[in-house]
Amino acid sequence: MNMYGSKVVGWGAALPDEVVTNKDFEARLETNDAWITERTGIKERRMGGTTSSLAVEAAQKALANAGLQPSDIGLLVLSTTTPEQTVPATSGTIQAQLGLTCGAFDINAACAGFVYGLVVGHSMIATGTERVLVIGSDTLSKITDQQDRSTAVLFADGAGAVILERTAPEDNAVLGWDLGVDGSLVPILYCDHGGYLKMEGREVFKRAVLAMVSSAKTAMERAGVTADDIALVVPHQANIRIIEAANNRLGLSMEKTAIVLDTTGNTSSGSVPLALSAAVEKGMVNPGEYILFSGFGAGMTWASAVVRWGK
Ligand code: UT7
Repeated sequence: MNMYGSKVVGWGAALPDEVVTNKDFEARLETNDAWITERTGIKERRMGGTTSSLAVEAAQKALANAGLQPSDIGLLVLSTTTPEQTVPATSGTIQAQLGLTCGAFDINAACAGFVYGLVVGHSMIATGTERVLVIGSDTLSKITDQQDRSTAVLFADGAGAVILERTAPEDNAVLGWDLGVDGSLVPILYCDHGGYLKMEGREVFKRAVLAMVSSAKTAMERAGVTADDIALVVPHQANIRIIEAANNRLGLSMEKTAIVLDTTGNTSSGSVPLALSAAVEKGMVNPGEYILFSGFGAGMTWASAVVRWGK
C-alpha cells in the first residue's frame, strides 16, 4: 500500500471567448453543418487565448473551488501538446502567473495527457507531496491549418484543472488506472515543428475505439469495479461516434457520459477536465460515486483512470 492516498478537492475550466460555429466554416470551406454534426457531433468550438492564459484561468477557478491559496500547492503538472516555446516549459509561465512557489513541469501525451497528469499527480502525492495542481490546456487552433476542412472543423482551444490532495491510504480515491502508448502509430497523427496537425482520420477513429475499450477495462479491473459501478464516464471529447462505439462495447450508457464536444470541439488536454467540470456543474455525479476517465491521442497514447468522487 502507498504511504498516502489522494482525492480531488477542486476543479475549474476555461474557454476562450470567440465562438466559431459550423456555419462559420461553411462560409469559407467546402464543408457544411450537416456533415460536421453527423460525423463528429460538433456544432461549435472556441478559439483564442494562449495555452498559459487558459491554464491560469482554469487553475484560479480550481483554487477558488477548493478554497485554497497558491501557497497551498506543492506541485504543478501541466499537460499540453501546444507549449508556448520549445524551451522552457509552459508550466513555469503558469507557475509564475498563479503566484505558486512549487515545482512545475510539462507532460505531453497528447489527448491522453490530462489522465496521464492525474496519475502522475496521484503518484507524487502517494510519496508525500501534499497537493498537486493538474492542468490540461491546449490551443490546437494554432497548429491546425484553418484551410484544411479535414482538421479545421475538429480542433479548438480550452483548458481545465483539478487539485489533488493527500489523504489517508484508506480514503484514497484514485483507485486504478492504465497508461499506454504505441509509438509505431506516430504517422497516423502528428505535427512537426512549425507545421500543422496531420491525421489519418479513419485509422485514428478505429484505433481510438480499441484503445479506449481495452484501457477502460484494465483501469476498471485494477480498481475492482465494473461498468455497472460507474456513475459518470468522462471520455476524451474528439468525436461523439467514438464515444458511442466505446460505450457500447463497454456496456456504459450515454446518459451517464459527460459530453461537451458539441460546444468545444476537440481541445486535446483540455477536453477531459472541461467535460468533468461541466458534468459536476450539472450534478451528474455525487460524493462516493465512481468516475471513469478515458483518453486517447497522438502517439498513439491512451490513458484511463477510475476515481471515487467526493468533496
Ligand atoms: O484527439 C484524437 C485525435 N482525433 C480523433 O479522434 C479523430 C478521429 N477521426 C474522426 O473523428 C473521423 O475519422 C473524422 C471526423 C476525422 C472523419 O470522419 P469519417 O466518417 O471517418 O470520414 P472520412 O475521413 O472517411 O471522410 C469521408 C468523406 C471524404 O470524402 P470522400 O473521400 O468520401 O469523397 C472526405 O474528404 O468526407 C470528406 N470530408 C469532409 N466533407 C465535408 C472530410 N472532412 C470533411 C468536412 N466536410 N469537414
